[in-house]
Amino acid sequence: MSDLVQLTKDKDVAIISINNPPVNAIGPAVSEGISQAIKEITQDESVKAAVIIGAGRTFVAGADIKEFGRITSGKTARGPGLLPLLRQIEDCSKPVVMAIHGTAFGGGLELAMSGHYRVGAPGAQVGQPEVKLGIIPGAAGTQRLPRLAGVAKAVEMCAQGNPISAQEALDSGILDQLIEGDLLSGAVAFARAVLEKPVPKTRERNQRLGTLEQNAPIFAAAREVARQKQRGMIAPLAAIDAVEAATRLPFDEGCEVEKKLFNDCLFSEQSKALIHVFFGEREVAKIPDIPKETPIIPVNSVAVVGAGTMGGGIAMVFANAGIPVLLKDADPPALDRGMEVIRKNYSSSVKRGRFTQQFVDERLRLITPVLRYDDFDRVDLVVEAVFEGMQLKKEIFGELDRVCRPGAILASNTSTLSIDEIASATARPEAVIGTHFFSPANVMRLLEIVRGKNSSKEVIATCMQLSRKLGKVGVLVGNCRGFVGNRMFGPYRREAQFLVEEGASIEAVDQALYDFGMAMGPLATGDLAGLDVGWRIRKEFRHLEKAGTRQPFAEDRLCEMGRYGQKTGAGWYKYDESRHAISDPELADSLRKWSAEAGIPQRKISPEEIVDRCILALVNEGARILEEGIALRAGDIDIIYLNGYGFPPYRGGPMWYADTVGLNKVRDHISEFHRQHGELWGPAPLLRQLAQEGKTFAEYHRSQNMTAA
Ligand code: 3HC
Ligand code: NAI
Repeated sequence: MSDLVQLTKDKDVAIISINNPPVNAIGPAVSEGISQAIKEITQDESVKAAVIIGAGRTFVAGADIKEFGRITSGKTARGPGLLPLLRQIEDCSKPVVMAIHGTAFGGGLELAMSGHYRVGAPGAQVGQPEVKLGIIPGAAGTQRLPRLAGVAKAVEMCAQGNPISAQEALDSGILDQLIEGDLLSGAVAFARAVLEKPVPKTRERNQRLGTLEQNAPIFAAAREVARQKQRGMIAPLAAIDAVEAATRLPFDEGCEVEKKLFNDCLFSEQSKALIHVFFGEREVAKIPDIPKETPIIPVNSVAVVGAGTMGGGIAMVFANAGIPVLLKDADPPALDRGMEVIRKNYSSSVKRGRFTQQFVDERLRLITPVLRYDDFDRVDLVVEAVFEGMQLKKEIFGELDRVCRPGAILASNTSTLSIDEIASATARPEAVIGTHFFSPANVMRLLEIVRGKNSSKEVIATCMQLSRKLGKVGVLVGNCRGFVGNRMFGPYRREAQFLVEEGASIEAVDQALYDFGMAMGPLATGDLAGLDVGWRIRKEFRHLEKAGTRQPFAEDRLCEMGRYGQKTGAGWYKYDESRHAISDPELADSLRKWSAEAGIPQRKISPEEIVDRCILALVNEGARILEEGIALRAGDIDIIYLNGYGFPPYRGGPMWYADTVGLNKVRDHISEFHRQHGELWGPAPLLRQLAQEGKTFAEYHRSQNMTAA
């Protein structure tokens, strides 16, 4: 038997333990080990029943995702997968009880459903998350789940991919019993109690499959939800088709339908992109020069300076994680306003059912509004979120240096300013770091952690770990203007404006990028964030613009007219009371007039060109960022764009998208834009180099560590 599976006995009950850390992913060796164990217990007359359990922290968390890449790249042939093993277990004449703790996901739940009974620890979760990887369950999950849980639950779980709790699994018929206390002994006792009973085969349990009339509205509703909530994704619709097959066809034929749909999905670009995202999200936590053993500074209390838009949201993030926070502002009315916004946000979360009133009351008790630095000597971390201005930030950091205890982390939420210059206002630059939250801070998952040239490894490791505790995806970035996300967003939004100035309509620009999969078009995004933010930054940095290079003018004009976006009721669009966007024909006329005055010829612009101009602008800047070491890996840039900028996950992020287009093609396209539109489009040297070598961004590894300056 393989080392990954152990067979032991508790008198007449065999115990099959799967031991493939960290998550007991099931690949060919595990599968072979279980199969061998089932054969042995079938022949062993002293065994009357079996329990299958996961060793360590979980039951099986799924098939081994790394295998998929090997199959699609042709390195491994796709065999029959888990299907024969699951049938072997189901056909075993002795009852097999699946004992579930941790997460029985994907192939793990499929394995569990092949057993005759399932028991679970109260904290366990089960799910078919395959759609999140761009595939569907591939080991009869779409066929067995509706037989256990009913059609509606199965469709929801397979199409949306979200896990359910042990209690829900019990209520829906997936689990037969919850086991309080020791899972293994409970499962063994359960096995003994069913020894004499017939062994129920899930594949033969057709009672919950419903009728055509009952199921039609379930599938129609599920397809509608998928089209809206998982816009552009193929796997959720395929998953629904597969569950539908379970309700219309005998089990084996249903499995054939599932197999075909699974293969179509597995070989799709979407699945490759989403698997890249899965591993990319885990890789961001790995910093080459900061080993795992780096000491972590305990963060048990924090302070936030500035109770405005960001400060208030950041205070909520800490409170939500159970960490007490002092929220300081210099201006009493601003502090009152900040607290009021926090209360309003919490109460709307209660109304929407996201939090209970009790949870919110507890969180609010963790936030203490203050006007002075009195208790700052007791906090472990301070996040500064005052107005964006170097002079002010330096004053604050000078003050923090005086009042905070040695060893405390001093972080800035600046979105454009140099962390090193801010750190120079203190006598402890090693304690200074950037923590760039995105707006609204309590909602957005992304956190850019900005490494200053002196930021200590302990401080970096602590912030990276803390980001996870806060429910954020922390990505380490280097110190430059705009860091990674906003630096790339500049050229992207610049091109959106250029396109409008060249004759595309505002709606056409937004629609093309929405259809590409972006959560919102670039102009509507500007209206949401506030056009005045970029305007102020542009004015401050105008002296850095190279004379003679084309600069967009449209947003500056809008701001001069007081059209800052949603907050002033008008920007690129007009907004009604409920902030619904309305096209503005007068603005369209003004744009044509301004363009004529600027001598910009007007032309018809295709949606393809709109997408290329905007997305390749992201890619070209991303390539520079990568080469400069501002991002550690192309995948890190992708994770930033997926979590902070509404880039469609099924395209894997801008750098992955460029790899799928082919860097040769991308370079040629950018070179063409360079000829047509001038200097701003010079192809990034790294892009040229990789295209020349026939390589991808994903293959690029810098020889040195991240630059910190
Ligand atoms: N295959 C291969 N590696 C996996 C894996 C899997 N199914 N699940 C997790 N891992 C790896 C991670 O990459 C990570 O590796 P690293 O330490 O080298 O970075 C390690 O296991 C630990 O994972 P996490 O950091 O994510 O640990 P958490 O405790 O935070 O989360 C988890 C655990 C909830 C199980 C989470 O890892 C997860 O959601 N995994 C994916 C589950 C999944 O999608 N299963 C379905 C797979 S597809 C399938 O089963 C097809 C079938 O229908 C045929
Ligand atoms: P804001 O204008 O909403 O709030 C700033 C707050 O700081 C105000 O309440 C003000 O009274 C307070 N303040 C000013 N001087 C102070 C002092 N000396 N001591 C204590 N409080 C003081 O600003 P916003 O939008 O929250 O931005 C804060 C920081 O976050 C800026 O650095 C900004 O660049 C950055 N940021 C902003 C984002 C956004 O979308 N608004 C996104 C990411 C970062």
